[in-house]
Amino acid sequence: MTENEIPAEVSIVLPTYEEAENLPIIIPEICRVLLQASIRGEVIVVDDDSPDGTCSVAEKLAEDYPVKVISRKQERGLASAVLAGFKASQAKVCVVMDADGSHPVEKLPEIIGPLLSDQADVTVGSRNVKGGSSANWPWYRRLISRTAGILSAGLSKMTDPTSGFMGIRRELLAGLKLDPIGWKVVLEIVVKAAPSRLIEIPITFRDRHLGRSKMSIKAQLSYIRHLYHLHKFKHQTLIEFIKFCIVGFSGILVDMGMVIALKELFALDTRICAIGGFSLAVTTNYLLNRFWSFTRGRETPFLKSYLIFCAVCGVGLAVRLGTMHLLIEYTYLDTGYGYLLTNFIGIVVATAVNFAGSKAFAFSPEKLAFRSPKEESRTND
Ligand code: GDD
Ligand code: MN
Repeated sequence: MTENEIPAEVSIVLPTYEEAENLPIIIPEICRVLLQASIRGEVIVVDDDSPDGTCSVAEKLAEDYPVKVISRKQERGLASAVLAGFKASQAKVCVVMDADGSHPVEKLPEIIGPLLSDQADVTVGSRNVKGGSSANWPWYRRLISRTAGILSAGLSKMTDPTSGFMGIRRELLAGLKLDPIGWKVVLEIVVKAAPSRLIEIPITFRDRHLGRSKMSIKAQLSYIRHLYHLHKFKHQTLIEFIKFCIVGFSGILVDMGMVIALKELFALDTRICAIGGFSLAVTTNYLLNRFWSFTRGRETPFLKSYLIFCAVCGVGLAVRLGTMHLLIEYTYLDTGYGYLLTNFIGIVVATAVNFAGSKAFAFSPEKLAFRSPKEESRTND
C-alpha cells in the first residue's frame, strides 16, 4: 500500500486526542485489513495538538504507511476534527472510527464494501443489530448510552444513534451545512444528509486498548444542545406549522378585538368593522409569522413578502368558501348544527392552503430574492 501515486479510494479518518500508544497498533492493523480486502486506502489522522506526542507518532508511521497527518493547533473538538479529515479527503469513500481500538478494524471491509459498490450511501457500525454487542460497560455508562438513544428517537432510523463508526460516499457530504458541535458527528451527518440507503453493520464495541476516554460531562451537555438543533432541523416544517396555527388563533382574537373597538367607539357598520378587523389581523399575523413562525421569514424583503402573504390569505379565503360551497350543495352536512362542522372543515382546508402558500412564497427567501437580470445570467453560467 505504499504506491502513493495511485489515489486512495477510501480515506479512514482517525480523530485523535492523546492516542500516542494506540496509533502504532491500529494503523498497521487498518492497512493489513484493507490490503487483504484489496481496498486502496489511506489513513488521515486529525490530531488536536495532543500533549502526549500523538502527532509525531503519526508522522513516524507515515514513513511506512499511507498516512496523512493533520495537526490542529487552534481548533478543538471531535466533530470538527472529523469534518476536517473528510475535507482533506479526495477519495470516493470516507470512514470515521475511534483510534483507540473501540471499533473493530476487521469490520472495515463490510463498512466500505457497500459504498464502493454503490449499494449504500452510508454504512454505520451498530451494537444493536443482530450480531452486534457492547463492551462490558458499567451500569452508568450503559444508562447514559441508552438515554442518549432515547433522546434521539425520531431523528433517524439508526438502531445505534450514538455510534461513532461510519462510512459515507464523499459526494454526499458536498453542499451539506454541518454543525461541528458536540460529539455525535455521525448522527449529525445522517440527519442532514438523509441518505436513502443506510446499511447497519453489526459490530462489537470494545473498550479502548490504552489511554482514557475523552467522553466528559461537557460532551454530554453539548449532546443535549446538539439534539435540540437536530430536532429543530428535522422537524422544522412541523414546528413552523404549529406556530403558524397559534398565530392563526391570535389573529381571531385580534380580529374580534378590532371589530368590538370600531363598533363601540365609532358605531360603524358591522361589515366595515369586519374589514378593519381582517386588515389588522392579517398584519399582526404577518408580523408574528415573519419574526416567529418561519425560521427564515425575516430574510425576505418586507413589503414584497407582506403583499404576497395578503394575497395568499385571499386565496385561502376563496378556497374556504369554495370548500364550504361544495359541502353545502353536495352533502347533507350543513343541516342543524352541521354548519359548525362545515365551517370548521373550511377553516382547516384554508389553514393548509395558507400555510403552504406562506412557506413556499411569502416567507421563502429564495423565491423572493431580488435578482437583476445581470445577476440571473451570472448564476446560470
Ligand atoms: N481530534 C480530536 N479532538 N479527537 C478527539 C477529541 C478531540 O477533541 N476527543 C476525542 N477524540 C478522539 C479520541 O482520541 C478517539 O479516537 C475518538 O475521538 C473517540 O474518543 P473516545 O474518548 O475513545 O470516546 P469513547 O470511546 O468514550 O466514546 C465512544 O463511544 C461512543 C458511543 O457511545 C466513541 O466511539 C464515540 O465515537 C461513540 O459515539
Ligand atoms: Mn473509544
